[in-house]
Amino acid sequence: MSKVVITGGAGFIGSHIAEEIAKEHEVVVIDNLDDYYSPGLKRQNLEIILANPNVRFIEGDITDLSLLRRVIDSDVEFVFHEAAQAGVRISVEDPFKPNNINVLGTLNVLKASLDAGVERVINASSSSVYGKVQYLPFDEAHPTMPVSPYGVSKLAAEHYYRVFYEVYGLPTVSLRYFTVYGPRMRPDLAISIFTKKMLANEPITVFGDGNQTRDFTYIDDIVRVNRRLLETDAADGRVMNIGGGHRITVNDLIAHLREITGSTSRVVYSDKQKGDAEHTLADVELARNLVGYAPETTITDGLIRFVEWYTAARQKRLLPGTLA
Ligand SMILES: NC(=O)c1ccc[n+]([C@@H]2O[C@H](COP(=O)([O-])OP(=O)(O)OC[C@H]3O[C@@H](n4cnc5c(N)ncnc54)[C@H](O)[C@@H]3O)[C@@H](O)[C@H]2O)c1
Repeated sequence: MSKVVITGGAGFIGSHIAEEIAKEHEVVVIDNLDDYYSPGLKRQNLEIILANPNVRFIEGDITDLSLLRRVIDSDVEFVFHEAAQAGVRISVEDPFKPNNINVLGTLNVLKASLDAGVERVINASSSSVYGKVQYLPFDEAHPTMPVSPYGVSKLAAEHYYRVFYEVYGLPTVSLRYFTVYGPRMRPDLAISIFTKKMLANEPITVFGDGNQTRDFTYIDDIVRVNRRLLETDAADGRVMNIGGGHRITVNDLIAHLREITGSTSRVVYSDKQKGDAEHTLADVELARNLVGYAPETTITDGLIRFVEWYTAARQKRLLPGTLA
């Protein structure tokens, strides 16, 4: 049984990783329950993961290096760094917060991990580091030209991961996640917003003409590759795309959701949002070759599972679509 720290473990992706890893390991979650979206949702996530006695929760901020040094002690073998100010649009409004958390916070996680002698640190990076499309699918050699402050902060973090590996010898891996969805997903993401509106038959707003495309990745595929990184050093020092390997237009996404929910919501088209990527599509060959990654959940199956979860959560009076 290893000791594993998960930053941001009360959030969407971090709580799923914690739930899985805690089946076999001791897990310490650190999260400051940031109010970017409802802390109530994060407390619900914590309730689920803390049902396993292998999990401990520390409420705290990753920008506090002395706290991180206490959390990432010399018994810790692996760190999954999921804490961040996620979200492209909020970063356009306030570029300082993502910089503070995603860059300074990341540096703290790396420094504390290095000093504690951690065996591997796994970084939640993002497809938003690519930004401007030169060709599709994005392979890891595609130029990185972020189109939002969020993308810049995630790219800076990635470089710190690489440098801590190359200069200090700390084993690190960066996973470039492509839009992740599934139960407990962030309420600020399109699939969650559309589902909420559709179940109420309210109009849906699409920014742009709806022909922009996204590669969506189901949460179980993300969890599987993270868990795999406990077992192999094959990806140390590397950056890998973790996507679904297919893309669909926003209009097609809406059509799928409409069919699943039986909704009569109409679509209202509005101006494009600054900072939004036009297209994303992952080439996942590198992750396949290095760690055997293969996305298993199709968008249709994933959406059906998400809507089922959303409906059940609402019936239990949980807060699935709550922003604040
Ligand atoms: N969800 C996606 O589609 C997606 C795509 C690409 C990359 N990512 C990355 O994956 C990671 C997890 O994303 P998510 O969707 O689960 O987001 P999330 O917001 O649900 O989770 C992030 C968690 O970090 C916590 N946090 C924020 N600031 C903190 C701080 N200063 N100290 C401690 N904890 C803090 C938040 O309270 C939250 O619980 C992030 O690094 C994000 O950039 C997510």
